[in-house]
Amino acid sequence: MLRTQVLQACDTTCAFRASSVPRGAKTRKRRSAQGKMARLFQRPMSASVTDLTQLRVDYKHAALGERDAAPDPFDQFARWFDEAVAASLPEPNAMTLATVDATGRPAARIVLLKSVDARGLVFHTNYASRKGSEVDADPRVALLFFWAELERQVRIEGTAERVSAAESDAYFAARPRGSQISAWASPQSAPVPDRAWLEAQVAAVQARFASDVPRPGNWGGIRVVPRRFEFWQGRESRLHDRLVWTREGDHWTIGRLAP
Ligand SMILES: Cc1cc2nc3c(=O)[nH]c(=O)nc-3n(C[C@H](O)[C@H](O)[C@H](O)COP(=O)(O)O)c2cc1C
Repeated sequence: MLRTQVLQACDTTCAFRASSVPRGAKTRKRRSAQGKMARLFQRPMSASVTDLTQLRVDYKHAALGERDAAPDPFDQFARWFDEAVAASLPEPNAMTLATVDATGRPAARIVLLKSVDARGLVFHTNYASRKGSEVDADPRVALLFFWAELERQVRIEGTAERVSAAESDAYFAARPRGSQISAWASPQSAPVPDRAWLEAQVAAVQARFASDVPRPGNWGGIRVVPRRFEFWQGRESRLHDRLVWTREGDHWTIGRLAP
């Protein structure tokens, strides 16, 4: 709920002007309403007044058993990813990337999966951004896909490394010109004075590169090399399936976790 909506709710809930309400009751009611609003205001402003304990979905869509699981987690990932695409989910390649800074403090944000093969999962970004600096300082990262309509999540843990310059060049060259310009114009994660400043940067980059836009040196791909995958399939009554693939040398072993 937006702050203004909360305030409107307070206007109607907190104002007891009806003369039919006895004086003492009026005070008690006002105090109780004020207490209620105080509790509301203790919630984050983005939270709804909906009773969140009643928001629940019972998962019944599918199951994930050891016998159906692919021995290689990349094959399992390919199966589930193809199913997410076939189900026309919005941005099925959007994934949460979690990093830690040099002191171990975590941060997470969405990035887009742009390629995947037996080496790992690749996204592209600004190497000088917060995430870029964090993976330089500590390459241990986690990825998370959530495909709500399929009642699935995939958790991946591993290490981040930069892809080759040739791989970054190839992807950058395939991007629309506007995205290429923005990669030059935006010092990702750095404070900027205002939007007009950003738009001026864009105009300057457009003037600088009349035809082809080369890849900025600080922009490119990062590959997450997994050492652990977990595939989670929602099941009835919270008895979900959780299968985990852990890499040992060149082999993957599969285990099951309690939901
Ligand atoms: C759907 C979606 C896709 C995004 N894809 C990318 C991406 O592929 N690469 C990227 O650098 N940022 C992407 N972003 C923006 C990041 O979430 C983030 O705001 C940005 O990378 C700066 O993060 P940082 O300051 O932690 O480095 C995406 C955001 C959303 C919501």
